[in-house]
Amino acid sequence: MPTRTNLVATTESLARSPVVAEAIDVIVRELAGAQSSITAARPASPELAERYESFLARQAEAKGRPPLYPYVGSGLGNGPLVQLADGSVKWDMINGIGVHMFGHGDTDLVATALRASLSDTVMQGNLQFNAEVIELAEILLEQAGRGSQLKRCFLINSGALANESALKVCFQKNAPADRVLAFAGAFAGRSTAMVQIGDSAGGREGLPSTVNVDYVPFFDEDRPEDSTAVALRALDEAVTRYPGRHACFVMELVQGEGGFKVAPREFFAALMQRCRENGIGVWVDEIQTFGRCGEMYYFQQLDLGEFVDVVTIGKMSQVCACLFTEQYSPRPGLLSATFVGSTVALQVGRRMIERLRDGGYWGPHGRIAQLHAAFRDRIGTLVGEHPEWFGPVAYPDGRTSTRLYGGVGGMMRFTPFGGARSRIIAACRRMFEAGVIGFYCGRDPVHIRFLPPVGVMEPRQFDDVFTIVSTALARVAADD
Ligand SMILES: Cc1ncc(COP(=O)(O)O)c(C=O)c1O
Repeated sequence: MPTRTNLVATTESLARSPVVAEAIDVIVRELAGAQSSITAARPASPELAERYESFLARQAEAKGRPPLYPYVGSGLGNGPLVQLADGSVKWDMINGIGVHMFGHGDTDLVATALRASLSDTVMQGNLQFNAEVIELAEILLEQAGRGSQLKRCFLINSGALANESALKVCFQKNAPADRVLAFAGAFAGRSTAMVQIGDSAGGREGLPSTVNVDYVPFFDEDRPEDSTAVALRALDEAVTRYPGRHACFVMELVQGEGGFKVAPREFFAALMQRCRENGIGVWVDEIQTFGRCGEMYYFQQLDLGEFVDVVTIGKMSQVCACLFTEQYSPRPGLLSATFVGSTVALQVGRRMIERLRDGGYWGPHGRIAQLHAAFRDRIGTLVGEHPEWFGPVAYPDGRTSTRLYGGVGGMMRFTPFGGARSRIIAACRRMFEAGVIGFYCGRDPVHIRFLPPVGVMEPRQFDDVFTIVSTALARVAADD
């Protein structure tokens, strides 16, 4: 009869087994062989067209509407390149809207996933979990704790649910406060509460209003001098109108869906300070910024740690999380769920974070900063070569802007055709056909955004990407 210690040792020896290691090596080598022909964008194979059309028709039937892009992945890719089921290969500059930050078919992550798949369960939960749940929370907290008071971490399996957790934590801490402050243009996910916070009428159409929200204008890069004063005034007005009623101010430090808008530290610090003076919780939504800017958390890059009470993360972490200070720790019963996440997601998420942390990616001269510089260089060249596609960006109030591209780190945007919605969507479709997958963001104006796979993309690969972008924009211009 083996002892209990022996049984644990058996698990560990399975993890270290040379037979397992060798088998994983064989599989990964086979994968690398299959990927080796994926080196550049290429068109679809005509003989796969019929089957591909049938996939798309089935998808449209199941969902009740056609997808935005005719995208069905083949399951094979190579870094920033993905092969679709029609045999075409495309540069993936959006990656599941910021999830696959080591691109497609990364062999180290596949090996990690293979190891994780030997674990006893597919999913892990809040009642029963293995060591990786603890380890992921620890790595997130270890970094978050530098310069902030964040001490606790609740893992959950979507960004919207991480945000729901944050909202509950803030309401409970500041009860009976029943209102929330958010930035105009905010996005927070698609649960019934989050669509109330998100500043999009379409997102909440036909739904009852469940959260009271007061909006504060975001920083305007074209009017830097008075942006902070305007935002502070809106915050003060809301507080005067509803004294003691705001549980929190939820802030995206770079507006994601809102248009990849950035703001300087001083803007946020002034608002956060005012929140503190009024007992309003500061909740930073890093679901889109996490890991892809110049630090693990963008609040650290902006040196705002002293102000944050609650932070939510997601997307590239594979498993999402809500982190909070001791003061904001909820009472038992508030946060739980069946699932934390899958064993593969937990292990791969941790591995991705470790590789970013230890691989020279962050910091002002890190790999992500270099990738961003290459993006600006290539888009700057394109703008210079084709001023006819890059006129001033038009705002609904008649104002125009010459900020034709921007963003930070692995969040990149550019704005051809004045940011007119129909032409930006046409440009995204033309790019897709030509071999680059991007997406749009913002409302009026609308921008093209890239969330490239920062973990594996080389700066020089933007040469190929922008050659294709140029072809696509020329087609849009010719279509007019
Ligand atoms: C800032 C922000 N918050 C929340 C979410 C919602 O995350 P999820 O789609 O995983 O629910 C997103 C997703 O795009 C986001 O960008």
